[in-house]
Amino acid sequence: MAASGAALAGFVVAHLAGNLQIFLGQEAVNRYAHFLKSTPGLLWSARLFLLAMGALHVVTSAQLNREARAARPEPYAGKAYIKASPASRTMFASGLIILGFIVYHLLHFTFLKLHPQYGQLTDALGRHDVYSMMVLSFLNPLICAAYIVPVFCLCLHLSHGLSSLFQSLGINTERSRAGLAAGAVVFAWGLFAGYAIIPIACQLGWVKLP
Ligand code: HEM
Repeated sequence: MAASGAALAGFVVAHLAGNLQIFLGQEAVNRYAHFLKSTPGLLWSARLFLLAMGALHVVTSAQLNREARAARPEPYAGKAYIKASPASRTMFASGLIILGFIVYHLLHFTFLKLHPQYGQLTDALGRHDVYSMMVLSFLNPLICAAYIVPVFCLCLHLSHGLSSLFQSLGINTERSRAGLAAGAVVFAWGLFAGYAIIPIACQLGWVKLP
């Protein structure tokens, strides 16, 4: 679970770096999207790897959950959370929201099923105009919310998940635990800021249609 989580977190960082090119303008975004699509070997290896890591993460989380229940078949008489953070208590719910978001997101931007007209957008070089597709989408405040809320859940999930990862890999020691947990929180909320700023920038007109 830790290894698949680390791989997925790596994707989330790389994807953010790609998406932030929206601040560099239409040419940068479309060149990058075109590069990915015109190197199918790279694209499909990454897709298959991600799919395998996503499936492994879901299957191992279900297994862990079963083991935890088996270890304590009788529920506790009362639920008094002493050290559990809101992030750790909502891992299952935030995981489900992330899964739902990925389905929505793929239908929206990759398979172009929700707004098929975005598939017709092309730039001066005849490439798919991914830049304009993003800006047009995020002019709609409901679509902005449909991204910002799940990305919030993703970062909540990551803030706890990374601490668990350090624990699983045995990096955590008595001395380093607090520092690593704080690092995980800063990393997760940094990611949230990076993802959320994209729809917000389109709404506020910082990023405009070409
Ligand atoms: C503001 C937030 C985000 C924006 C603007 C964004 C943008 C995009 C765009 C434009 C594409 C399609 C690229 C193309 O077809 O040319 C894409 C694909 C994708 N995004 Fe995002 N994304 C965001 C957040 C996320 C998050 C949080 C995740 C994961 C949890 C994610 C996972 C994916 C995946 C798996 C693909 C499919 C890649 C492929 O196989 O082609 N995205 N994203």
